[in-house]
Amino acid sequence: MPEFSNEERNGRLRTTVTLQPGERVSFCRCQKSADLPFCDGTHKTCETTFGPLIVVVPAPEKAPEN
Ligand code: FES
Repeated sequence: MPEFSNEERNGRLRTTVTLQPGERVSFCRCQKSADLPFCDGTHKTCETTFGPLIVVVPAPEKAPEN
């Protein structure tokens, strides 16, 4: 599960998400999610052409075993 933290900066809420290799997170672009800034799937039930922004950090490839 990605770690995230909120902080106020210059009077505005700032969210930092820290991902580890192999993790992914979906951000809302439709502005209808009840869990902003994250996508909660609400975009599927409203009229919008926007789906989530998905960020993936690939897991490192395993070295071949000899
Ligand atoms: S809920 Fe907004 S993109 Fe999924």
